[in-house]
Amino acid sequence: MKQINMVDAPKYVNEKVKIGVWLTNKRSSGKIAFLQLRDGTAFFQGVVVKSNVTPEVFELAKEVKQETSMWVTGIIHEDARSKFGYEIEIETIEVLSETHDYPITPKEHGVDFLMDHRHLWLRSSRPHAVMRIRNEVIKATYDFFNDEGFIKIDAPILTGSAPEGTTTLFHTEYFDRDAYLSQSGQLYEEAGAQAFGKVFSFGPTFRAEKSKTRRHLIEFWMIEPEMAFMHQEESLEIQERYIAYLVTRVLENCQMELKTLGRDPEVLKKYTVLPYPRISYDEAITMLKKGGFDLEWGVDFGSPEETYLADQFNQPVFVINYPKAIKPFYMKPHPTRDDVVICADLLAPEGYGEIIGGSERATDYDYLYDQIVKAGLDPKEYSWYLDLRKYGSVPHSGFGLGLERALTWLTGEDHVREAIPFPRLLNRIYP
Ligand code: 4AD
Ligand code: MG
Repeated sequence: MKQINMVDAPKYVNEKVKIGVWLTNKRSSGKIAFLQLRDGTAFFQGVVVKSNVTPEVFELAKEVKQETSMWVTGIIHEDARSKFGYEIEIETIEVLSETHDYPITPKEHGVDFLMDHRHLWLRSSRPHAVMRIRNEVIKATYDFFNDEGFIKIDAPILTGSAPEGTTTLFHTEYFDRDAYLSQSGQLYEEAGAQAFGKVFSFGPTFRAEKSKTRRHLIEFWMIEPEMAFMHQEESLEIQERYIAYLVTRVLENCQMELKTLGRDPEVLKKYTVLPYPRISYDEAITMLKKGGFDLEWGVDFGSPEETYLADQFNQPVFVINYPKAIKPFYMKPHPTRDDVVICADLLAPEGYGEIIGGSERATDYDYLYDQIVKAGLDPKEYSWYLDLRKYGSVPHSGFGLGLERALTWLTGEDHVREAIPFPRLLNRIYP
């Protein structure tokens, strides 16, 4: 008899198989017991018919408690009424570990309780669906960039540089000197682009942000492509194709997960239509003022502003050319205006905010040196980075996609903590 994963059930209809499972719920009558099961790959039903099994097996089916682990054997059947579409008619049950008083019951629990039990909560159908979509997005990311001729160059996590400003740095000791946890792999990807042309990184990044919002994690994963010989407009085209590709892959391969989450595929389908609109920061300010926001040119946008702007469009929208004063030191200055830089944030629809930040990079050694000093950074720490402008400097552009931000939007979850297996938040480093 073959041991299978339930996700492969369509290949074993009417066959007898063995599956390792946990019990999630059950109900029974005098003659039949319905066990709700999960095997890690699917959530499905096991049916135990009293007249078809030994009295011991039927008794076990009635007694077994939530999250007890078991081997079951039985016949796979199609079951058009269930979400998964297949069930197992159980013949034997072998209990592996009897479980009592599993803390997460089918009733409603508060967020804090669930977060305290994240190590167990991951088993539940909702987080399970989100993590499967996360996996699909990661796979799609590798496929997209490899197919586009990028290679993955890993950036270090322990660094001496602060690309995104010194206020959110995580400080640590590095033997007898200071180091920080990476805020972004970008500066290293720029070195990579000059060695390999088109590169990307995917890794954890850290921001000691004292903000407690639906969009901020302390530790999050970022995808950071960087392209040599490329101006910003071409980078925007890659960005929108990349996002449309992620949406397409999720629609193709995660139908069941979207159903579990109640995320309407028709809504997502709209986001595969290209190009995405582009508006300038100046236009954004005018729009916001018209919308009743009391703000002046030069301010950075918070969540209400980003939501309002995104609501004016049916698709993700690029806001381009932000004021230089509110953006990092490395961005390319505008050729005819010295108050803005060549950059773009991509705002997701439905109030999910900025999912990509990117720019063309400053290429001139003296300009960049000056910007580093103005940012309060020590140019000595950045001499390796300045070397990139000394030896074969070229126009180049890049961007960073926050995986969890994008995933929160794709899955329709309401908080970024749902998009990472073990979230690190302002008040949470446990479990
Ligand atoms: O806009 P950011 O700060 O840009 C950079 O770090 C650039 N160096 C990227 C690059 O050009 N290579 O961050 C990029 C993205 C944001 O758009 C957002 O999606 C995500 O990272 N992000 C966060 N996600 C979760 N929690 C946080 N605290 C985040 N901060 C940024
Ligand atoms: Mg940003």
